[in-house]
Parts: sequence; structure tokens; C-alpha cells
Amino acid sequence: MSVAHSLDPQCIPRHVAIIMDGNGRWAKRQHKPRLYGHKVGVDSVQEIVECATELGVEVLTLYAFSTENWKRPADEVGGLMGLLKNYLQKELNRMLKNNIRLTCIGNIEKLPSDVREVLEKTMAETAKNSKLTLNLALSYGGRSEMVHAIRNIAEEARAGKLATEDIDEKLIDSHLYTAGLPDPDLLIRTGGEARLSNFLLWQASYAEIYFTDMMWPEFREAAFIQAVKEYQGRERRFGQTSDQVKSG
Ligand code: FPP
Repeated sequence: MSVAHSLDPQCIPRHVAIIMDGNGRWAKRQHKPRLYGHKVGVDSVQEIVECATELGVEVLTLYAFSTENWKRPADEVGGLMGLLKNYLQKELNRMLKNNIRLTCIGNIEKLPSDVREVLEKTMAETAKNSKLTLNLALSYGGRSEMVHAIRNIAEEARAGKLATEDIDEKLIDSHLYTAGLPDPDLLIRTGGEARLSNFLLWQASYAEIYFTDMMWPEFREAAFIQAVKEYQGRERRFGQTSDQVKSG
């Protein structure tokens, strides 16, 4: 890590989730096309993945493409798909070297077949890695994830594989795209907006949320460390009182 930091190594968030917003506005300020913002945004992705790995974060979920993003102009959607494919091809060796496992959440059936192929190949080749899980949210929406989970649960109930009483939080968790991953501890949103935009609606119930005005292409290592620092200063109560938390 190039930036010296004073983080408590005992209190690193296990799962950090990021809404990477502001690429288009950042590009506009530089009098550049929106795609240039996404391109520099990929450099931020690369830097944050490296920093998260070094800090010992276990899961980093990045909101790379939402279900709503399909409505953007075709050239922007095509450009984003191209950047994603390039990123995966370029980063495979580094993922293998740094023990990074790639996973994804979302309706990846909707991705162009060439992107899906590279994605599936990268996931297969990194499947046994165990330091950081880099989890890309692609064609992802929290509501559509819940619809997908509820349909699967209903199907299993209809087939007699489970009873209504079997439906609890754990069962729902196990039917979400994020099954097997811990819930996010820290959710970061760049770009100055303060909303969740259909991201990890179920999983982020107790996440600490950190909003910053910084645009995603400028969000680099020092900014990430600052976000983790603020997280470390917060008291996580999970619905309990402050005194209960302090007495353990
Ligand atoms: C939001 O900025 C960002 C996106 C919709 C895409 C994020 C994608 C990348 C950073 C690059 C590809 C990702 C990977 C993992 C290689 P915006 O365009 O909505 O910005 P604006 O609000 O300023 O218009």
C-alpha cells in the first residue's frame, strides 16, 4: 500500500460494498465524453481492489451495472460492456497472483455472450482463490433479486421440498445471489447522492453507510482508507442500546 494509514487491523470490515457513481459528471467537468469517465473509473476499480486485498477485506462488492442501466444509450451500454470484458481479460493474471476470487451477482443471462464467456472463464479460473472475493454486481437490482429468490422458494414449496414454516431469514438469504457471502458491513456511495438505488436492499440492513461527494474516477486508495477509518469510529449497535454493546 502506498499510503501510510492508521487503521485498526482488528476492525477491518469483512464486506465492503460500493456504489461507484459520478463517472459521467466527472468526465463532463473535464469536457470529455461519458465513456472516458467510465474508463478512468476502471483505474479506480483496480486501485480499490488492490487496497481492499492488502487491508484484509474479505468481500468487495462493486455495483458495476444495474438493471436500470440497460436504459442508457446503446453506445454507453456497449462501451461499459467492452470495459468490463477488457478489465477481466487484463486482470486475470493479477487475480491469480493476488489470490482473488471473482464472483458476480445479478441476471448475467442478459449480458452479451462474449462478456458472459469471459466472466464465466474468470470465475472458473479463480474459483479456488481465498484472499479477497471480488463480487461484481452486473445487471443487478435488489428488487429483481428478491423476485428471483421468492420464485425459487415458491417453486420448492410447490414441489413439496419445503413447508411455509421453513421460510425464515436464513432460507431467504440462501436463495439470494449473495448466498454464502457475509452481509456488507460498510456501504460506500461516491458521487454526492445519498440513496441506495436498488443495491443490496436486503443485505445492507445493518451496513454502515458512507456517502462522499467525491466522484468515482477520483476515489482512490487514500479515500478508501478514509472511509474505513470513519467506519472504525462508528458504534455498530444492531438494534441494541449503546450500554448493551459496551458490556458485550
Ligand atoms: C455510475 O456513474 C457508474 C456506472 C453506471 C458504471 C460503473 C462502471 C465502471 C466504473 C467501469 C466498469 C466496471 C468494472 C468492474 C470494470 P454514472 O455514469 O451514473 O455517473 P453520473 O451520475 O455522473 O452520470
